[in-house]
Parts: sequence; structure tokens; C-alpha cells
Amino acid sequence: MKVRLADVADSTRLAHLHASRITDGFLPSLGPAFLDRLYRRIVRSADSFAFVATDEGSDRVLGFAAATSDVGRLYRSFAIHDGLVAGAVAAPRLLRSWRRVLETVRYPSADGTDLPAAEILTVAVDADFGGRGIGALVVDAATQRLAERGEAAVKVVAGSDNVAALRLYEKCGFTVRSRIEIHEGVSSEVLVWNSSSR
Ligand SMILES: CC(C)(COP(=O)(O)OP(=O)(O)OC[C@H]1O[C@@H](n2cnc3c(N)ncnc32)[C@H](O)[C@@H]1OP(=O)(O)O)[C@@H](O)C(=O)NCCC(=O)NCCS
Repeated sequence: MKVRLADVADSTRLAHLHASRITDGFLPSLGPAFLDRLYRRIVRSADSFAFVATDEGSDRVLGFAAATSDVGRLYRSFAIHDGLVAGAVAAPRLLRSWRRVLETVRYPSADGTDLPAAEILTVAVDADFGGRGIGALVVDAATQRLAERGEAAVKVVAGSDNVAALRLYEKCGFTVRSRIEIHEGVSSEVLVWNSSSR
């Protein structure tokens, strides 16, 4: 197993892993072209990145964690650089779901506390390779890089019923800060990691 930073050539695989492993999420419902565009922006932007865990021999991506120093800046950069194309490929769905789009973008203020700007955006591991420590490897790599960039704290959001994700984040040093409803009727946990408690 090898852990390395993702580059643009990995974005389609990251989009595919996201869509196949997070089936109830809002972003996959916008289609593969939208997700591909989003991961291209993440790996190219100065403030955001993704770590991939790959098979040593084939370099096949088995899992990844995407993260950003500032989720607000990432969304703005995505809107400026990719908004037209991404909006066009997902237009019908975006129009139907404008409320969910706003809820997704605004959620960092939803719990009423001062949450860190840095965030783990996604973690997904190929279903055939779960439970082998890949999730922990890429999350640890991401928090370490954010800490090296001067981030004192990092947040992540996980569904309250996502036992695997909650266990993974707790294993990687995150603690539950609050419970929120980003979308009405769907409960999520906000977890925070502090570099001082490493
Ligand atoms: C969540 C996910 C990334 C975990 O990846 P993984 O490679 O299986 O995780 P690891 O092997 O590193 O395990 C980390 C910890 O989580 C626990 N864990 C993993 N899968 C679990 C499961 N299904 N149920 C309970 N605990 C689980 C492991 O036991 C381990 O804890 P331990 O060392 O105390 O035993 C993976 O299940 C996944 O891709 N899920 C779908 C996508 C998702 O929900 N992402 C998170 C929201 S963005």
C-alpha cells in the first residue's frame, strides 16, 4: 500500500469512488461529470488536496481522503472556475434542489459555534478493501498536511448513523462537537480534530 497526493489524472477515479460509496449523498445525485469537475478543482487548488492509497504494484486507487484549508474559499473557486460547466451538466437537478445546495454551502454556521475553516471533505474506500486501515491512513495523512500548513483544527461532518465513518474519525483523533441537521430530517455529527491534542 502506498499513500500519495492525488493529481488531475486521479479525479475520475475519485469521482467514481465517491459516487459508488456515498450513494445517499446530494453531490452524487448531480452526476459523474459534476463530481469529476469538483475533484479536478480540489486537486488543482492551492488550498485543497486529496491523498490516495494505492496498490503498490498497479497504482490502482483503493481509497482517498479529500480536504481543504478553507471550505468557503474552495466553493467560491469552484463557482468562479467551474460554475458554468458544472452548472450546465447538473442544471436540472440543481434547479430542482436549490434549497439543498444552499443548505450544503451554509452548513458551517449551522451549529452556532465557531467551527474551523479546514475540513475533511470526503473519505471513501473501495468496498472490497474496507476494514484494512486504508481510511485511517488517508485521513491521518490529510490532517497531518493541514497541520503542517498551520491549521490548528479541522472539522468533518458524518451522518449520525454512519458507524464506520464515526469510528474512523474517532480513531484518527476527532471528537464529536455537535449534532446538526444540514438537510431537514437528516441528522449529522460535526467532529473536530485539534493539532494540540495529537
Ligand atoms: C468510512 C470508511 C471510509 C472507512 O474506511 P476503512 O478503510 O474501512 O476504515 P479503517 O479500516 O481505516 O478503519 C478505521 C476504524 O473504523 C472501524 N470501522 C471500519 N468499518 C467499520 C464498520 N463497517 N463498522 C464499524 N466500524 C468500522 C475499524 O474497525 C477501525 O476501528 P478500530 O481500529 O478501532 O477497529 C469506509 O467504510 C467507506 O468508504 N464508507 C463509505 C463512504 C463514507 O461513508 N465516507 C464517510 C463520509 S464522507
